Amino acid sequence: MKNVIIRPAEEKDLQAINDILNYAIVHTNYNLNEHTRSFEEAQQWYAEHIAEGYPVIVAEKDGTVLGWASLSWFRRFSGYRTTAEVSVYVSHQYRHKGIGTMLVTELERMARKYHMLIAVITDNNTASLSLHSRCGFIPMCTFRELAYKNGEYVSVTFMTKKLN
Ligand SMILES: CC(C)(COP(=O)(O)OP(=O)(O)OC[C@H]1O[C@@H](n2cnc3c(N)ncnc32)[C@H](O)[C@@H]1OP(=O)(O)O)[C@@H](O)C(=O)NCCC(=O)NCCS
Repeated sequence: MKNVIIRPAEEKDLQAINDILNYAIVHTNYNLNEHTRSFEEAQQWYAEHIAEGYPVIVAEKDGTVLGWASLSWFRRFSGYRTTAEVSVYVSHQYRHKGIGTMLVTELERMARKYHMLIAVITDNNTASLSLHSRCGFIPMCTFRELAYKNGEYVSVTFMTKKLN
């Protein structure tokens, strides 16, 4: 897709970022939250990322946010500080056009201080498994029936990429 800009997210992007996330929460079990995120919770999430130096980026075309991605703490124990968890979401109208790949590639460029990136992916999320494989992540293990959403147990695959 042409003329897509990848840039750091700003406060003004939060509504679009949250709408894209909430669409996935409502329509899939790829995100294992069962309740949508309020705008106030999104503001808190964004503020925590900025304060702790974790990047949040967006893909924008002609002023419209098409997708976003972030790095976040992987568990809150200090010994995990060398690992960051990848999140990537693309608006459903714009999927399969290379935007997810652009976002993950840019996140990785911004992730040099980490030793390991991890993606936690539900086992039925073919697109995310493909995207992360394509970006060099390796499936390390699948936890069978680790979560529960929409009336069924969900298996979850951990994929990692060692950076240095
Ligand atoms: C996962 C997601 C971010 C991928 O974004 P995208 O912009 O569609 O990804 P890309 O176009 O860059 O494609 C990346 C790879 O995924 C594959 N892919 C994308 N959509 C796919 C689909 N619907 N089915 C199968 N493969 C798919 C592509 O073929 C490509 O791999 P390939 O070129 O080696 O074939 C997007 O589908 C999404 O937002 N899904 C909902 C939220 C989500 O699941 N986030 C991840 C949580 S772990």
